[in-house]
Amino acid sequence: MPAEFHNPISKAIRPEDTAEALSKYLRSQQRGREEYALMVQAFYDLITDFYEYGWGPSFHFAPGKDGASFEEALASHQYYLGKAIGLKPGMKVLDIGCGVGGPQRSIARKFGASIVGLNISEYQVGKCAAYNRKAGLADRCSVLRGDFLDIPAEEESFDAAYQIEALPHAPDKTAAYAEVFRVLRPGAVFAGYDWCMTPLYDDGNPEHREIRQGIEYGNALPQIASFTDIADGLRAAGFEGIETGDRARDADPGTPWYRPLEGSARSLKSLPRTPFGRKITSAVLRVLEGVRAVPKGSLAISEVLNVAADSLVAAGRLGIFTPMYYHKARKPD
Ligand SMILES: C[S@@+](CC[C@H](N)C(=O)[O-])C[C@H]1O[C@@H](n2cnc3c(N)ncnc32)[C@H](O)[C@@H]1O
Repeated sequence: MPAEFHNPISKAIRPEDTAEALSKYLRSQQRGREEYALMVQAFYDLITDFYEYGWGPSFHFAPGKDGASFEEALASHQYYLGKAIGLKPGMKVLDIGCGVGGPQRSIARKFGASIVGLNISEYQVGKCAAYNRKAGLADRCSVLRGDFLDIPAEEESFDAAYQIEALPHAPDKTAAYAEVFRVLRPGAVFAGYDWCMTPLYDDGNPEHREIRQGIEYGNALPQIASFTDIADGLRAAGFEGIETGDRARDADPGTPWYRPLEGSARSLKSLPRTPFGRKITSAVLRVLEGVRAVPKGSLAISEVLNVAADSLVAAGRLGIFTPMYYHKARKPD
């Protein structure tokens, strides 16, 4: 076992709750849209530490650039949004579905704005607030627990808003946009990156359908949108000046967004994502579960994440899916 073997789940939730959270997640999946809030909370209770361990504090993809590190690509993807919404010191901004706050802290540092994170996951809210304090940013970065379909904030209380791969979890895109619209002041800009099936996706193709379902299952998503759903939803919510585009096309050809999920044996950290590393991880988890050194359900959770990774890579290679469909829109004056 590698010296730095780490058991992320045991830190995330109490051992006795893991199997229960997992079965809650699987049950809620079957009920789909009505259970989106339960599904997403159970999911992030289970996988937040896995994500942090394997990916870092920013839970999103980025178009890769030759010569740029993974962290640099993530940061430039975040700054692109900061620029799009015209961030300046003194502005009050909403980060919808803020995760543990990697993007929030990076954008706040770069642009000097005050950012309020919104997140439905209590576990992530606690972590995000602690990291903000530790980073010395608590005066400008705060976190609010709540649902983006019912944002706990006054109308017209933000100067701008962004979302990074959070609204794929929305069971009703237009309803989520309408809430964002409500809390923005007139003239404010909202931008983000959503997960979409591209026009190359063919719902009549069984392979495509299976891949889409794998992405939904492995990522706690109700149903993945199409490009037109995004622009139509923004328009229906009242936004104007809508701009959209697939930022996956901005990646250099050798570094597509899904490259980090393909795994390479070059570093200890990426080892668990290689086929060999997965075998080791599964074997280790099976043994550890047997001797109760990790909670029951740990292996099943790592398998859910493997389905997610395999489906995302397959979709990326076929070009039928993007996790970075850019959208920008303005609330009329
Ligand atoms: C893929 S993560 C992205 C997190 C963050 N934007 C980042 O890039 O690091 C999706 C986030 O959306 C949050 N989320 C999902 N459904 C939500 C809802 N209904 N209301 C608020 N937040 C939600 C999750 O808890 C999670 O933090």
